[in-house]
Amino acid sequence: MPHRSLVEAKLEGQFLLTLPAAAISAYNANAMPILAPNSFEFISRSAEQTRRVGMRLGGLIDSRAVICLVGDLGSGKTTFVKGLAAGWGSLDAVTSPTFVLVNMYRRPDRGLLYHLDAYRLKDAQEARDLDLDAMLEGGPLVIEWAERIQEALPKEHFLVTLRWITLDRRDLIFIAKGSHYQLLLTALRQRLYGGL
Ligand SMILES: Nc1ncnc2c1ncn2[C@@H]1O[C@H](COP(=O)(O)OP(=O)(O)OP(=O)(O)O)[C@@H](O)[C@H]1O
Ligand SMILES: [Mg+2]
Repeated sequence: MPHRSLVEAKLEGQFLLTLPAAAISAYNANAMPILAPNSFEFISRSAEQTRRVGMRLGGLIDSRAVICLVGDLGSGKTTFVKGLAAGWGSLDAVTSPTFVLVNMYRRPDRGLLYHLDAYRLKDAQEARDLDLDAMLEGGPLVIEWAERIQEALPKEHFLVTLRWITLDRRDLIFIAKGSHYQLLLTALRQRLYGGL
């Protein structure tokens, strides 16, 4: 369903994004994507590059940020979070929270970053049972498989969709849901295209 809303975002979009050649060739089989003004696309060419993009985002988020990651197995969600946590200033290494569901990372100023993996959650209620509200209050929250618990999440959030293209390439699409996240989107776009 987030894929559906992505398609809708593309269909409703007024702006034709200028894409790098790699992105155009990746889309050769399909129609040229038309993205909405509240989104932009980045083609990552390596895991390291995805990590660096995450790092840029991590350096921009505030303590109320909700970052939703949507993408299939192996699309790069955890790789992205590794960069995001580093850019945010985490003292702790990121590990995949698939078995414990939630990880918490610390920063020297006592800030906390929450990392939730919703893969094993049945529905939004199970997320609420994990005291999602306390996480939302406690610091920035980044969620893998966010579409599984969509109803429990704030309507305003920053959505990152990740799509496998080839062994080394991933299509990342950033979508701002709400005006607050529009500012974040603009700042991230400037950072990324200001030289990565
Ligand atoms: N451009 C790229 N961006 C991100 N990962 C990449 C890229 N190219 C190759 N990879 C590899 O793809 C894999 C992505 O794994 P990762 O654990 O980040 O995915 P995930 O989306 O979190 O999967 P899961 O749904 O199982 O949690 C890693 O082995 C990584 O090295
Ligand atoms: Mg993962």
